Amino acid sequence: MAELFRFGVSLDKALLDKFDRYIRERNYSNRSEAFRDLIRQELIKKEWNEGDDVAGAITLIYDHHRRDLLNKITDLQHDFQKVIISTQHIHLDHDNCLEIVAVRGKPEEIIRLTDMLKSIKGVKHGTLSMSSTGKDIE
Ligand code: NI
Repeated sequence: MAELFRFGVSLDKALLDKFDRYIRERNYSNRSEAFRDLIRQELIKKEWNEGDDVAGAITLIYDHHRRDLLNKITDLQHDFQKVIISTQHIHLDHDNCLEIVAVRGKPEEIIRLTDMLKSIKGVKHGTLSMSSTGKDIE
């Protein structure tokens, strides 16, 4: 484990109360852990804004009975194979599929792929979980 450093943070009471409520609601064991996560979250935001190498997951829910849709999703994934690490397909029920696409690469390409997948007719829901390669967030 890396060496730990301590530093003091001054906050007014009202803001500290809000922070403590935030921590309790999210089940953090202490302020330091919550504070570390907030810093990491901001660093990840910066990675995505600055066009670094990032990682994440695209999640799609779509109608299994629409074959044209399946073809479009597969075609797009072939066009973007540079950023797609793997794809997992889950048959949710008789009608619905869940697909999780693990991605890594330039933020603008991942966002473009997400937007194209989400806009295919028959895709009921799509999200992009913006995460990190983990290299620069400790
Ligand atoms: Ni399926």
